[in-house]
Amino acid sequence: MTTLNGKVALVTGAVGGIGQAICAALRDTGARLALADLDKTALDETVDGLGPGADAAAFDVDLADDEQTTALPDRVRRHFGGLDVVVNNAGVRPIAPLLELSPAEWRKTLDIDLTAPFVLARAAIPGMLEQGRGKIINIASMAGQLAFQDRAAYCAAKAGLIMLTKTITLEYGARGIWCNAVAPGVVETPMTRAYFRSEQMRASIRANAPMERWAQPEEIARPVVFLSGTDSDYVNGTTLFVDGGWTAGKGY
Ligand SMILES: NC(=O)c1ccc[n+]([C@@H]2O[C@H](COP(=O)([O-])OP(=O)(O)OC[C@H]3O[C@@H](n4cnc5c(N)ncnc54)[C@H](O)[C@@H]3O)[C@@H](O)[C@H]2O)c1
Repeated sequence: MTTLNGKVALVTGAVGGIGQAICAALRDTGARLALADLDKTALDETVDGLGPGADAAAFDVDLADDEQTTALPDRVRRHFGGLDVVVNNAGVRPIAPLLELSPAEWRKTLDIDLTAPFVLARAAIPGMLEQGRGKIINIASMAGQLAFQDRAAYCAAKAGLIMLTKTITLEYGARGIWCNAVAPGVVETPMTRAYFRSEQMRASIRANAPMERWAQPEEIARPVVFLSGTDSDYVNGTTLFVDGGWTAGKGY
């Protein structure tokens, strides 16, 4: 069982479906938690939901704003006295055919899904280097490897995030920085709520995932815990596909 006793983990998108599950799983390892998201009220509720035993604090931030994102690691360090793990989990995913996707929507998606993880890593790494070690986990998507129609900006951003993960490892892996990605398949969260209202979509997910089902957020959170702790100390620059086998190939 992974233990992160006393380590400080910052999770973005912490009030979302996967974010909440990651926070709960990290709490169970003894980590101290910095929850970051857009909305202070929702953050406070999520912190409360972690229970009285959790050492957790809320940090409201708009990750589309470079200045706010850059300032976030220092805010966390001021509160907790350190920062050991960063989970870049916040994300948005517009669905629109290419000709209906505006340049503004494209840029906003890249800002939140790709640029914010870069800006946050850039702000967090110097302190991690001083500490001698630090782990960054980027929540990518199987859509970063496998193209999906009507999701041009999202697929491009997540593919970029997988590459950013590798470049961080190349540049800082020898100096105590781990950067890995988790690439989920379809997970039942607010982001995908609409999918589950359509029987056609449910059938399509079953047909495409060799395991014939979608995931629950906890099934994404456990691999994140693995990549946050010392059990994964020889894992660096990789992307762990947590997709029920979806990207393994195509059957008949
Ligand atoms: N749900 C899935 O099927 C699935 C599949 C693959 C990858 N993912 C990825 O997992 C991550 C979490 O997704 P989820 O399903 O939990 O989605 P979600 O919509 O439940 O949560 C996303 C969170 O990100 C936050 N966020 C969005 N923009 C922000 C900003 N500008 N600043 C700060 N916070 C912001 C939202 O407020 C929200 O709490 C995302 O990166 C998503 O792309 C999800």
